[in-house]
Amino acid sequence: MLNEKMQKQINDQINAEFWSGYLYLSMSAWFTQHNLPGFANWMYVQYQEEFSHGMKMFRYIHERGGDVTLKPIAKVDTNWKSPVAILEQTLKHEQKVTSLIHALMDTAHEIRDYASINFLNWYVDEQVEEEAHAEELLSTVKMIEKDQAAMYALDKELSTRVFVDATLNNED
Ligand code: FEO
Repeated sequence: MLNEKMQKQINDQINAEFWSGYLYLSMSAWFTQHNLPGFANWMYVQYQEEFSHGMKMFRYIHERGGDVTLKPIAKVDTNWKSPVAILEQTLKHEQKVTSLIHALMDTAHEIRDYASINFLNWYVDEQVEEEAHAEELLSTVKMIEKDQAAMYALDKELSTRVFVDATLNNED
């Protein structure tokens, strides 16, 4: 059985993951509207990943005999002044998500919920990657944003990113 505090915090995190997905979907739309389809694809995959992060928690709550409570998803930004502004927000947001995951981990330790510690380890690792990817993309775009040919080449590269469903990991 899942401890009540843990259950509430994971439910809140499902909402945070879905909100992240909604934010990235909005960013994907912005890139499409600004003729950067590869960036739009990268953000669309980011949206899919966030929803799978949320769904992984959704399944976990049920696995532990708990109750999932879905809350409204708050509105997200729809306009940015540049790709750099979007990626700055992306990095800042991922840093915030990392702190939320760490707070979940603190609770799991506090109540000695070893199953949740194990479950949350996946997210701790994932956040290291999420921050690294956002940071790398931000610094690349900062370097080349005024160079149209370089932006075009990067856009092509970003069009190859494919979605990996997080709910398919740790299934056994
Ligand atoms: Fe679900 Fe981008 O962390």
